[in-house]
Amino acid sequence: MSKRDSFSSKFGVIAAAAGSAIGLGNIWRFPYVLGENGGGAFFLIYLFFIVSIGIPVMLSELVIGRRSQSSIFGAFKVLCPGVSFFQVVGVMGVAAAFLILSFYSVVAGWTVEYTVLAIGNQLSDKTPEQLSVLFQDFSTSLWRPIFYLVVFMFLTAGIVIGGVKNGIERYAKILMPVLFLIIIILCVKSASLSGAVEGFKFLFQPDFSKITGNVVLEALGQAFFSLSIGMGAIATYGSYVQKKENLVHAAVSVSMVDTLIAVLAGVAIFPAVFAFNIQPDAGPGLVFVTLPNIFNQMGGGYFFSVAFFVLLLIAALTSSVSLLEVVVAYFTDELKMSRKYATLLGTILMIVLGVFCVIYPKLFDAFEWTSSNLLLPLGGILISVFIGWFLGKDKVKEEIEAHGGKVVILNVFMVIVKIFAPIAVALVFMKNIGLLG
Ligand code: PHE
Repeated sequence: MSKRDSFSSKFGVIAAAAGSAIGLGNIWRFPYVLGENGGGAFFLIYLFFIVSIGIPVMLSELVIGRRSQSSIFGAFKVLCPGVSFFQVVGVMGVAAAFLILSFYSVVAGWTVEYTVLAIGNQLSDKTPEQLSVLFQDFSTSLWRPIFYLVVFMFLTAGIVIGGVKNGIERYAKILMPVLFLIIIILCVKSASLSGAVEGFKFLFQPDFSKITGNVVLEALGQAFFSLSIGMGAIATYGSYVQKKENLVHAAVSVSMVDTLIAVLAGVAIFPAVFAFNIQPDAGPGLVFVTLPNIFNQMGGGYFFSVAFFVLLLIAALTSSVSLLEVVVAYFTDELKMSRKYATLLGTILMIVLGVFCVIYPKLFDAFEWTSSNLLLPLGGILISVFIGWFLGKDKVKEEIEAHGGKVVILNVFMVIVKIFAPIAVALVFMKNIGLLG
């Protein structure tokens, strides 16, 4: 057997996992879902889920991946040969990867379109109303969104074919820090607009009367989606992590960076939303109708708009790569296909689904809802139950304490994955199907 491809450095692991986590989920989805779910209260619940469930599930995935040295599908066979039930996580993960990547590639296609518009300087002379109409016209048209989603999927496939070290790691390492910088500049500009205060209030002042079962479920789904957890993407990366790396450190830092970027995206967007009179609950177009207005008010707006959309595109790519990688790992590890063939097959299937999402927006919504609010949290429960009840504490200990970690970390982690996370997610589900009144 050939040696499993692996990340060459610690920064490579963190950068690749952060590359998976940071993407449209932070910059496109977080602000729009927050806007639809009442603002500050959603934000607090989201943060609570990131810390209490997100980080532990991410760590669980890293443990599963590294311990099994296998993709999520084979992982449970290696780790717990007697219990075949958990293989359902792999199946759900591959299904989630298909669903997510099909709508993700549509939104990424919008990003390609906006990159092209920004380069052609076609966003700069528009009023806020014109920018809304522009987005509306484009996103409801047919051929351009389809064309750009195909372009995006082939870019993704190109990176995945290159393999882990040459593809994923190399791109993620250099580009994420640049994106970070641009978002900070956008935050500063947005905060200085007149009327910005309202945006800060919306984002940071929780109105607890807005909390409903649905808001809690959306916050949970967004936490899973944003961290890329619950479907094996992080586990697949975990299988490329060398024994000497500290997994606790990786899980915590990736989650923190991911959350920071989402918060910064919120700070960049909501002050501008209120300053330009855009509806905070405008839905999936929110980022695309809001940000060009900020660029238009900035010195060097042309440069920043081009740079921003290019980098957002790259952030989307480093995430879509991890999604496609789940499918490719399944095709290659389980079905013994060659990497090239697996990538091409996966890509073509995703494109077909993506085209359906463009033609039927209801399908787009259904895929988005099912994957983030159902499949990922459900996968998350199973992953934590597996770590908590089936893998065995001594093995977990070996993985997470190899670097002299504190006993208390292990104990808290075990209580969360054994009891807290499964019960919390189950309660959120039960509330939403009316079982808790
Ligand atoms: N976390 C990614 C983002 O925020 C999306 C993603 C979800 C990637 C699930 C992999 C798995 O854009």
